[in-house]
Amino acid sequence: MSAPVKEQLAARAAEVEGFLVRCMRDKGIPDRLLASMEYSLLAGGKRLRPVLVLSWAGMFGEEGIADKVMPFAASLECIHTYSLIHDDLPAMDDDDLRRGKPSNHKQFDEATAILAGDGLLTEAFGLMSAASIVKGLPADRVLRAILVLARAAGAGGMVGGQAVDMEFTGREGVTLDELRRMHAMKTGALITAACECGAILSGADKADAENAREFGRNIGVAFQIVDDVLDVVGDTATLGKPAGSDEAMGKSTYPAFMGLEKSKALAVDYVDAAHERLSGYFGPEQEFLWQLARYIVDRVC
Ligand code: IPE
Ligand code: IPE
Ligand code: MG
Ligand code: MG
Ligand code: MG
Repeated sequence: MSAPVKEQLAARAAEVEGFLVRCMRDKGIPDRLLASMEYSLLAGGKRLRPVLVLSWAGMFGEEGIADKVMPFAASLECIHTYSLIHDDLPAMDDDDLRRGKPSNHKQFDEATAILAGDGLLTEAFGLMSAASIVKGLPADRVLRAILVLARAAGAGGMVGGQAVDMEFTGREGVTLDELRRMHAMKTGALITAACECGAILSGADKADAENAREFGRNIGVAFQIVDDVLDVVGDTATLGKPAGSDEAMGKSTYPAFMGLEKSKALAVDYVDAAHERLSGYFGPEQEFLWQLARYIVDRVC
C-alpha cells in the first residue's frame, strides 16, 4: 500500500522546495528585495499548487516529465506566495502572521512587501517560459499553459476574486451565488489552472485536460470553504496564520453564511464531484490525487 497522503504530499513538496531554493538566485535582484521574496517563498507552506501541476503532468506524461514541468510548477508557488504577501497587507486583510512567521510587511516594510509580491509575480512568467526554453517542453504546450495561468491569476481570476473579497468585506446580504463566485475566483482559479496546466504541459488530449480542470474547479472551491472553516475552528499555532481573522474583519465566508456543519458538508460534496473526474484513470497518480482531494477536507492547516 502507498504511504499516507500527507507523507506523499510532503515528499513531493520537498522536491518543489529543492527547486524553489535556487530559482530566484543569479537574477540581479537587489539584496533586500531578494531577502524579502525568499523570506515568504521559502517559509514552508503545503506547496499544493505545484504538486497538483506535477501530479496531473505525471498522470499523462512520459518518464521524466516532472523534471521538465518543475519550473512551471514552481511558478504557481511564486504567484501563490505573492498573493499571500499582498493578502496580508494592512490595506487588505491586515494579518501579522503567515506560515508561522511575521507577515512579510511586518518583517520588512510595506513598500518592500508590495515589491516582493510584484517581483514574485513577474519572475513567475520567466519560470513558465523556462519550461520550454531550458527544459525543452514543446513551445505550443507551454504557451497554452501560460495563457491558462495568466487568465487564472489575473483580474478575471485570483486578482478579481480578491477585489470582490474586499468589496464584500463588512457587507450584509451577500448571496450564496456571489460567495460561490468569489471563492471560485480568489482561490479556485489558481488551483484549477494548476491541474489544467499539468495536463496541458504533458500533452494530454482535450477530454483529459477537461477532467483535470473540472477536478481542480471542485477541489478549489472545497479548499477555500475549508480555509473559511479552519479560520473559525482552527488555532493560530497550527494554522500558522491568525485564527478568527475573518470574523474580526467582517469577511463574507461560508461558515458566516450557512454555519459550520453545512459548510463542511458542502466541501465534501465538492470533493465527491472532483473524485468523479478521476474515475476513468488508474495508477499511482490517480490514487494520490484521489487521496489529496480527500485530504483537502480532512486537513487541519
Ligand atoms: C492559503 O493557501 C490561502 C488560500 C488561498 C486559501 P494555502 O492554505 O495553500 O497556504 P500555504 O501555501 O499552505 O501556506
Ligand atoms: C485568500 O483568502 C485568497 C488569496 C488569493 C490569497 P484568505 O484571505 O482567506 O486567505 P488566508 O486565510 O489569509 O490564507
Ligand atoms: Mg483575504
Ligand atoms: Mg487573508
Ligand atoms: Mg482564510
